[in-house]
Amino acid sequence: MQPAISVLGMGRMGAALAHALIKAGHPTTVWNRTPARAAPLAAAGAEVAASVRNAVAASQITIVNVSDYQATQGLLRDKEVAGALAGKLIIELTSGTPDGAREAHGWAQRQGARYLDGAILATPDFIGTEAGTLLVSGPSGVFEEGRAVLAALGGNVQFIGEDPGLANALDSAVLALMWGALFGTLQAIAVARAEAIDLGVVAKQWTATAPVIDGLVSDLIRRSADKRYAADSETLSSVSPHYGAFRHLVELMEARGIDRTITDGYEAIFRRAIDAGHLHDDFASMSLFMKRPA
Ligand SMILES: NC(=O)c1ccc[n+]([C@@H]2O[C@H](COP(=O)([O-])OP(=O)(O)OC[C@H]3O[C@@H](n4cnc5c(N)ncnc54)[C@H](OP(=O)(O)O)[C@@H]3O)[C@@H](O)[C@H]2O)c1
Repeated sequence: MQPAISVLGMGRMGAALAHALIKAGHPTTVWNRTPARAAPLAAAGAEVAASVRNAVAASQITIVNVSDYQATQGLLRDKEVAGALAGKLIIELTSGTPDGAREAHGWAQRQGARYLDGAILATPDFIGTEAGTLLVSGPSGVFEEGRAVLAALGGNVQFIGEDPGLANALDSAVLALMWGALFGTLQAIAVARAEAIDLGVVAKQWTATAPVIDGLVSDLIRRSADKRYAADSETLSSVSPHYGAFRHLVELMEARGIDRTITDGYEAIFRRAIDAGHLHDDFASMSLFMKRPA
């Protein structure tokens, strides 16, 4: 018999989590602020709790997936709910900051509850599939307790470390990578539109160039980890050619009236590195200039 699980929050993601738990055979109790959103889960076999307190009381493990930590606090930091959580496991899968997770862990401990913090690196359609990725941090013994339940939510559950803030920290780092690509794509679309290039052609070039960019990203991470900033025989590209090509992009954007908010940020970082004498160093030397200047 699988352990009973309660899930708070039946938004797009919470509903996917609850469906996966039901599919894996967990008796599942759900609660949502707007009751109508819980109705499809009742049809799928979940119990719908009338209150947060009833939901938490129904299981030894409560998964929370609402919009943000403030919403979670509004649900859990009630005397009766907190009392019902004592001796139980909270798995917070709402997105948040590292400090928010650390604070929530401390609060849970003071209520006598155990706590894991997770970040979901997937859209709802990946939940319950082999490709579903969840990053989890918190006490390793508590992770072992939650491991089987988490495995029902995705085939790629990764324990990141004992510090409860680490899952959110890594999540933010990966999202920074993702938005780099997405905002870069927005710029590419703007340039293509300004020069009347069909977007299908841009898509083809992305496919052709993706392995090159992949290689550059991996190399940048590796060299930054090794602090190999000076150019050497393995350097793929120093700052200089990147900056030259970047200036061509800026000139084109300027000429076509394309918004420069993003490239102004790139320019500022290039300038800091170049002014500090890194023009002919490996591009990885730019990683030294990502802290806010004093
Ligand atoms: N969707 C994704 O692809 C994805 C991927 C990774 C992580 N996540 C994370 O998963 C979480 C939920 O995302 P979602 O896509 O499911 O969002 P969503 O569809 O907008 O659902 C938000 C949920 O939060 C609830 N909620 C909001 N404020 C609340 C409050 N003050 N008190 C109680 N409940 C409240 C909503 O209840 P009502 O129905 O009553 O409004 C709803 O259940 C977020 O932290 C998000 O960052 C989502």
